[in-house]
Amino acid sequence: MPANKKLLILPGDGIGPEVMNEVRRVIEWMDRRRHVSFDIQEDLVGGAAIDARGMAITPATVERARAVDAVLFGAVGGPQWDSLGFAKRPELAILTLRKELGLFANLRPATVLEPLIGASTLKPEVISGLDLMIVRESTGGIYFGEPRGVDTLPDGSKRGYNTEVYTTHEIERIARVAFDLARKRQRRVCSVEKANVMETGLLWRQTVADLHARDYADVELSHMYADNCAMQLVRNPRQFDVIVSTNLFGDLLSDLASMLTGSLGMLPSATLGVPDSSGRRHALYEPIHGSAPDIAGKGIANPMAQMLSFAMLLRYSFDMEEDAAMIEGACTRVLASGLRTADVMAPGCAKVSTHVMGEAVVRELDKLAA
Ligand code: IPM
Ligand code: MG
Repeated sequence: MPANKKLLILPGDGIGPEVMNEVRRVIEWMDRRRHVSFDIQEDLVGGAAIDARGMAITPATVERARAVDAVLFGAVGGPQWDSLGFAKRPELAILTLRKELGLFANLRPATVLEPLIGASTLKPEVISGLDLMIVRESTGGIYFGEPRGVDTLPDGSKRGYNTEVYTTHEIERIARVAFDLARKRQRRVCSVEKANVMETGLLWRQTVADLHARDYADVELSHMYADNCAMQLVRNPRQFDVIVSTNLFGDLLSDLASMLTGSLGMLPSATLGVPDSSGRRHALYEPIHGSAPDIAGKGIANPMAQMLSFAMLLRYSFDMEEDAAMIEGACTRVLASGLRTADVMAPGCAKVSTHVMGEAVVRELDKLAA
């Protein structure tokens, strides 16, 4: 029996707890069938933590996250917390975890699963076989840059400001992640900024180009302005292998890329920190979708993005490629069998609940492991 792997589960708000329940079944299944056991802790974040403790994430929760091998995060936010104001918002839970744990590399794959090809609003011939990875910087840029604020001017009107800041070090380390990933894929990196408008964009472009010449000449590098990239992603997404970009542009482009695949409900993500001397790194895994308050509590959310986030956790934090691939394979087979949650429903398929979808994945896992 392998040594216990420490996990912190943070279901959060909205559909977060519902989809996380289906991951628990996969964890139980692994315990039973694969003899892998996890040492699981659970805590509150987001609106749930605001209600219980008055803040989106407590320092104690951050320390628990620091102490485990990996964090599995659900989603945070909902209309009931919108009026609390900026300093108390549920989103601070994820932003604080990224910053405090140094989770600078946000990996957002956009892969088209063949059974879902009809769920995309784009033509099948444009997206068939799409396998794209967005590497988004996630502890810097305008999300965290100082100065920031809203000031009141002498005439009583206001002035709001945020600052985009990137250092050579921050750009190099995210670019390295992208180049290293590309080496295991199609060896192509597209670096995205707005060097035509922003000084930080120019520094970004030069820094990535220098690093490429120095250490990654075997990878093909291109540069693109962020607005053009958005257009190219819709026009011909298969031209891309790995896209690397800033926190804000990466946020936008990854939402765009996710819809190429048909549903936000299908896409996982990993956010990785800096490896220490023993190679251990902090890591957080979360679906790209949010808390979806409009469908929360109805039992109709798609649990697959959360399940696939767990598969990424196995792959990146525990090097359990075989188990990760098994979970991914089980999800594809369930979709191929015609079961669908509402978000990916198609003519001729059977519309099922979150729970039935989760059960079906476990059944396929049983078959795959037999
Ligand atoms: C994301 C989300 C977050 C972000 C929000 C919830 C703070 O949109 O993970 O993409 O903007 O980073
Ligand atoms: Mg986003």
